[in-house]
Amino acid sequence: MRTAIIEGDGIGKEVIPEAVAILDYFNETYDWGIEKVPVEVGFGKWERTGSAITDDDISLLKSCDAILFGAITTVSDPSYKSVLLRIRKELDLYANIRPLLPIPGIYKLLKIKDRKESDVDIVIVRENTEGLYSGIEELGDEKSTTTRVITKIASERIASFASNLAAERKNYLTVVHKSNVLKSDKLFLETCKETAESKGVNVSNKLVDIFAYDLIMNPEKYDVVVTTNLFGDILSDLGAALLGSIGLAPSANIGDSQAFFEPVHGSAPDIAGKGIANPIAAILSLKMMFEWMGKTREACLVNRAVAAAVHDKIITPDLGGKYSTKEVGDFILSKVRQLDAASFCLENPEDFSKLKL
Ligand code: NAI
Ligand code: MG
Repeated sequence: MRTAIIEGDGIGKEVIPEAVAILDYFNETYDWGIEKVPVEVGFGKWERTGSAITDDDISLLKSCDAILFGAITTVSDPSYKSVLLRIRKELDLYANIRPLLPIPGIYKLLKIKDRKESDVDIVIVRENTEGLYSGIEELGDEKSTTTRVITKIASERIASFASNLAAERKNYLTVVHKSNVLKSDKLFLETCKETAESKGVNVSNKLVDIFAYDLIMNPEKYDVVVTTNLFGDILSDLGAALLGSIGLAPSANIGDSQAFFEPVHGSAPDIAGKGIANPIAAILSLKMMFEWMGKTREACLVNRAVAAAVHDKIITPDLGGKYSTKEVGDFILSKVRQLDAASFCLENPEDFSKLKL
């Protein structure tokens, strides 16, 4: 198996090595035979070479099974095209999965009293290839347009993915849309409803604006949520507020044969270089990669080690701690080793499977 490692820009270069250290530990201990393929894309590369990602980079990424990605800086220069959009489209990574499940003990740590951790267990499934990120756009002095593309085939594909996930959980799917205003969303909503019903999944729907309110006020009402590209992008960052920090939110972009794992956060230029970025979102993205690989026990060990860091308050400043990125990463790795040696998670690793933290 080949895994591309893209650190990217800013704090991507700081958090990804902490996840890779855990990957290395398992790869070496259990002889998994994972070949790591370093790939450079992003703003740093663009500054150096004039190109943020090349055709050769895309070919290299296509030759890998999985990709672990940090974050990249995006600038508004018209010659700088979004690297992430290109990768997601060219590799057809159509399902963006963003689980919202608080780490046990995090609300106590952050003194969050107005909601319970057990009320939050949601997976946002975002369509990743079209919608307002179609790339069909024109920038003019007087008028600029971006075309919002919704197709039946892409809507069916994402609804089918979300319905299958719902069937493994509470068999309950919420479609989030704006079909009262956008004609394109009538197609999305109807297709999602039909697909979910054909799979025997209970389906309801919500307009995106009131859903944004409800996600924060009444998160216990939701389980699997399916939505279009831009809405999913915004709602999943909003949902990260339910986790306690953007530095705790992992994600996966899944295609038919490849998958791409990345923290939800960006390159954070305001803290880059200070060594204080929270590495947990990157480490939990690796954990999602383990789940995708069917390595449920290792995913379970990572979960427990992350929960131990929160429990022992070995945390970065975004969570009120004083530890560095590396100190938190080292602690989590040492816990993983310790739990592994103690044969933790051998019984029922499946309990921690499928997008469970
Ligand atoms: P951001 O997520 O980089 O930062 C937002 C705020 O959260 C900042 O105050 C930052 O310090 C904090 N933060 C983010 N991750 C953190 C972590 N792991 N630990 C502690 N604090 C953390 O979003 P922003 O500032 O809007 O974007 C910065 C750059 O990143 C832009 O160029 C943007 O285009 C890019 N970006 C890239 C993404 C990607 O590559 N997937 C995703 C989002 C933004
Ligand atoms: Mg985003």
